[in-house]
Amino acid sequence: MKITKICCIGAGYVGGPTMAVIAQKCPQIEVTVVDLNAERIAAWNDADVDNIPIYEPGLADIVAEARGRNLFFSTDVEKAIDEAQIIFISVNTPTKTYGKGKGMAADLKFIELCARQIASVAKDNKIVVEKSTLPVRTAEAIKSILDNTGNGVQFQILSNPEFLAEGTAVQDLLQPDRILIGGDASAEGQHAIAALVGVYSNWVPADKILTTNVWSSELSKLTANAFLAQRISSINAMSELCEKTGADVNEVAKAIGMDSRIGPKFLKASVGFGGSCFQKDILNLVYIAKSYGLHEVADYWEQVIIMNDHQKRRFSNTIVRTLYNTVADKKITFLGWAFKKDTNDTRESAAIYVADDLINEQAQIAVYDPKVSRKKVLADLDYLESRTAAANANSIVSFENPYEACEKAHAIAVLTEWDEFVTYDWKKIYDSMQKPAFVFDGRNILDRGEMEAIGFVYQGIGA
Ligand code: UDX
Ligand code: UDX
Repeated sequence: MKITKICCIGAGYVGGPTMAVIAQKCPQIEVTVVDLNAERIAAWNDADVDNIPIYEPGLADIVAEARGRNLFFSTDVEKAIDEAQIIFISVNTPTKTYGKGKGMAADLKFIELCARQIASVAKDNKIVVEKSTLPVRTAEAIKSILDNTGNGVQFQILSNPEFLAEGTAVQDLLQPDRILIGGDASAEGQHAIAALVGVYSNWVPADKILTTNVWSSELSKLTANAFLAQRISSINAMSELCEKTGADVNEVAKAIGMDSRIGPKFLKASVGFGGSCFQKDILNLVYIAKSYGLHEVADYWEQVIIMNDHQKRRFSNTIVRTLYNTVADKKITFLGWAFKKDTNDTRESAAIYVADDLINEQAQIAVYDPKVSRKKVLADLDYLESRTAAANANSIVSFENPYEACEKAHAIAVLTEWDEFVTYDWKKIYDSMQKPAFVFDGRNILDRGEMEAIGFVYQGIGA
């Protein structure tokens, strides 16, 4: 099948960058990204590419190059579905907040909605690609909806999970470690796989494109995220032990990372992992394991989450304990609110939970993050429903200038590893703070010796 038109439902962190890169690399294919959220689409279409809704290094340039040429953002979902040969589904799949599987299972209502919409609109054969991370065997559900509510047209469902990490999305898309495509073993399934392989072949070498059956592909995504998160929980578990024994977790990480079987990546001890995927995908894995009666498997993976929750709580406890067991009415400055550097995404960021704990202790939190607005900070806290929105608004202030944010603070907590934090005039910050001045470095990015020489009481993770 010759692919001339692609549509993607969901203009989020995954759909937006992925389609921008496909459009850039395949000028012969018209790529339309649609979303129910008209405000988001308008932002993607903003004449000034610096105003697109997602911040990713390098993304604005690609959008500037392809937008209006063969990359389009629209709210006309039906037209885009109708015209495309391949339809990517990149809508969000949050953890369920109600009913069976509450707090664990993925909420598939948006996926189902998409499937029903595709079924009602499609007039010719379509390839439907799962881009969103989904529970294993979701493809089956999508297929059943499509086949039973459609107009008799043929649908092929492919699983093509996204492995991009935020902050490096463009790089990850341009030079992926691998592209994974799962499809049906039937001739039609293999045909569909070949069509999607054809798209990626425009820039990805053949040996990096892996094809499997649908379920292997779906499960591989959950497994990859579970393994990555497990490494972080493993090193974070060691960080607590290091603090007790006098070992330094950075040294331990370096020493074990040089073992080529272990490798150096994803061994950075931190205040805890965040992001839209790790927790959600592991909870999902745990739920699936439980639903098959595999309780040991479920408990094994659940421990990764338990460890991560513990690490966040431990960080806020350390702050309270070190500040003489009370933070009531003390100004504590958060440097960073995003779940990692180089993104404006705050989903599941450790900062939210640490702030929540400290506000419970009646601290006053000042936040500076180069890419996160006050509105977002408040929305994140309100989402936890720990207290009223008014109470949150009274306990937290955002600053556009880091030096102002730190003025008169009792302590600084580093929650995100933004590069710019390291370049600050720390002497100037120290001079403006209450004494003794504390730094709790949740990312181990500052130099302990330097900070102590200035006069700070410095507490990193795992040393
Ligand atoms: C993605 C994946 O979809 C998720 O499964 C994966 O694990 C993480 O990344 P992401 O792109 O980060 O989600 O989500 P988000 O930024 O929330 O974007 C989803 C978009 O889909 C939103 O803009 C939302 O408005 C849109 N949407 C949602 C629709 O257009 N239609 C719907 O029915 C539901
Ligand atoms: C992750 C996966 O890496 C990606 O492949 C998948 O498609 C989506 O989920 P993302 O959530 O964007 O990507 O970011 P990632 O770089 O994996 O970081 C997740 C969290 O772990 C962040 O909060 C990060 O700060 C933290 N982390 C990462 C650590 O605490 N230590 C590390 O060594 C690495």
